[in-house]
Amino acid sequence: MARKKIIAGNWKMNMTPSQALELIDTLKPLVANDDVDVVFCVPAIDIIPAVEAVKDTNIAIGAENMYFEEKGAYTGEISPDMLTDAGAKYVIIGHSERREYFAETDETVNKKVLKAFEHGITPIICCGESLTQRKQGIYVDWIRMQIKIAFQNVTADQAKSAVIAYEPIWAIGTGETATADQAEEVCAAIRACIKEVYDEATAEAIRIQYGGSMNAGNAAELLAKPDIDGGLVGGAALKPDFGKIVNYNK
Ligand code: PGA
Repeated sequence: MARKKIIAGNWKMNMTPSQALELIDTLKPLVANDDVDVVFCVPAIDIIPAVEAVKDTNIAIGAENMYFEEKGAYTGEISPDMLTDAGAKYVIIGHSERREYFAETDETVNKKVLKAFEHGITPIICCGESLTQRKQGIYVDWIRMQIKIAFQNVTADQAKSAVIAYEPIWAIGTGETATADQAEEVCAAIRACIKEVYDEATAEAIRIQYGGSMNAGNAAELLAKPDIDGGLVGGAALKPDFGKIVNYNK
C-alpha cells in the first residue's frame, strides 16, 4: 500500500491569533489536494481559532509541543488533554529548536511520544544531525540513536501511525537544503532502523518527512524519493508558496 504524503507547516513562534486567521484564509484554497494530508502546526494560543477556521477543509491542526504529564503544577506547559479538547490532531515533538533552546532530550522526547499515543494524538517526531556530525560522518549513527530512544516502549501499531521528520539542523532556516539524495539516504536509513526495531510492515507504514528549507522550488524533487513521504516546512509554510509545496504533484 502506497503511503499517503503528509505535508505539515511548522509555524514556530509566528502569527498572533488574528494573523493566524488571515493566513488560514489565504492558504485554504491553495492547499486543496486529496493526495496529501495537510497539517498546520500552530502556536498553542492559535489552536482553537485555527481548528474553527479549517472546519470542512482538508487541513488538520497540530501543536508544536506538549508536556508529558497529565496535569498539575507545571506552570506554562500544555497537557495532552488540552490539545485533544482544543481539536489538535498532531503534535511536533523534539524539534531541534526545542532541543537547543529548551533543553529537550531524547528521553523527554520518548516520554512525550508515549503520552501523545496514549491520547490519540499523532506525533511528528523530529530528528537530525548538526553540521559537525555530518562532517564527521556520524550522522546516520546519531539519527539511529535518536530514533531508537524516541520509540522505546512504543508498540508496532502505534509506530505505524507515527510521523518522523528528518531535519538536518544545518538546513533549518538557512536556505541550504539537503540535496534530494542526501535526504533520501537518511530517510531510507531511518526506515531500515524502524524495520530492525519492529518489522517490515511497520517500516513500510510509517511516514518519514524531510524538513529544512523545503520550498516550492525543491519540494517536487525531494518528494519524488521513495523514502520521503512528506515535508515539515517552516519559513515557506507562512507564505502562499505553501500551496505550491502541497501541490508539488500537479
Ligand atoms: P525551515 O524550517 O523550513 O524554515 O527550514 C523547518 C523546520 O524547522 O521545521
